[in-house]
Amino acid sequence: MRILLAGGAGYIGSHTAVELILAGHDVVIVDNYSNSSPEAVERIEEVSGRSVVAYEADVRDHDAVCSIMREYPVDCVVHFAGLKAVGESVRKPVEYYRNNIDTTLTLLECMRERGVHNIVFSSSATVYGEENPYPYVETMPRGRCSNPYGWTKFMMEQILEDAARADAELSVVLLRYFNPIGAHPSGRMGEDPQGIPNNLMPYVAQVAVGRRDHLTIFGNDYPTPDGTCRRDYIHVMDLAAGHVKAVEYTAAHKGTEIFNLGTGTPCSVLEIVRAFEENSGVPVKYEFGPRRDGDLAEFWADADKARDELGWTAARTLSDMCRDSWNWQRQNPKGYES
Ligand code: NAD
Ligand code: UFG
Repeated sequence: MRILLAGGAGYIGSHTAVELILAGHDVVIVDNYSNSSPEAVERIEEVSGRSVVAYEADVRDHDAVCSIMREYPVDCVVHFAGLKAVGESVRKPVEYYRNNIDTTLTLLECMRERGVHNIVFSSSATVYGEENPYPYVETMPRGRCSNPYGWTKFMMEQILEDAARADAELSVVLLRYFNPIGAHPSGRMGEDPQGIPNNLMPYVAQVAVGRRDHLTIFGNDYPTPDGTCRRDYIHVMDLAAGHVKAVEYTAAHKGTEIFNLGTGTPCSVLEIVRAFEENSGVPVKYEFGPRRDGDLAEFWADADKARDELGWTAARTLSDMCRDSWNWQRQNPKGYES
């Protein structure tokens, strides 16, 4: 299959590109590099051993996306192109709604014009909201989100479901990621956040490499076994493998299907710090700070549906995640700039 990766130069998109290529597919990347760099595309080529078609374009640009699809007819679209920083979305809600909703609408319009029927969408566990009990199961209703980023995911899921309901040809797969961490085992590709990292693992890795003085753990008074929040951390290579399954699944199904991509096992912030120290051999200085607004105490995935219907399970361990994150950070202390 030939697959258009919208936002394919980003963290999850770049790892997915490699896995799709190695599974025998062709990829076409469209990215405006607002949160990534063309260097990531070069690394995809280096790691996969194949040259890759990549366009610098805004996925909201209808004419640009349609003309790319005309030049490179595709069988499926994977939509990664979104703004994703929770805190920033609270400060810049209009930019988040504009970017995330418009990219989705433009892709759907261009797909209709170009006769493309299959789309895989990067959704998030955040759409389960604050009230659902965990582990989260796909049959639960979407819940109230605590920030505009989450609401964009909620709305985009709704838009895609409505589009599939109105068009019997359409196949939509909504992938709800839990907490992706880790990097390609080669150390050549990984997460490269701009500025101060919002997420735990890149922050831990930057403390370990000496770019930050210490980690602040947001709260140690949660009703969890060690008082720190628990999440379902998943290796980005497992996530990438899940996309290969999802893309292939769209070719044989119609309508909308939702899949959680998680391990099904929760892990605390302190457990991450300890596992990172063990696997890197480097101490990670931390202190406890107040809770972060909007954080839930804990949640994790019920990942049975992806196992049963996609034939996918997360194979990599917490040690793999920490070792590969450190390998990437150590070899690329300033990310793709290094
Ligand atoms: P990322 O920022 O590394 O990748 C997103 C890519 O999309 C970037 O390369 C960015 O430049 C590009 N992009 C954004 N807006 C664009 C536009 N208008 N036109 C063209 N390109 C555009 O993020 P990621 O971690 O790889 O996440 C990919 C997707 O998965 C996002 O939609 C994100 O919301 C979702 N997601 C991520 C996580 C996570 O923890 N990383 C969790 C759940 C869901
Ligand atoms: N944490 C710290 N210190 C930090 C950063 C994070 O203690 O410097 C803690 C958080 O409080 C949380 C855990 O580490 O308990 C994980 O935090 P992340 O920011 O890495 O991840 P979140 O679970 O908050 O957010 C992730 C994705 C979002 C998504 C959300 C819900 O980044 O895109 O899960 O699914 F919306």
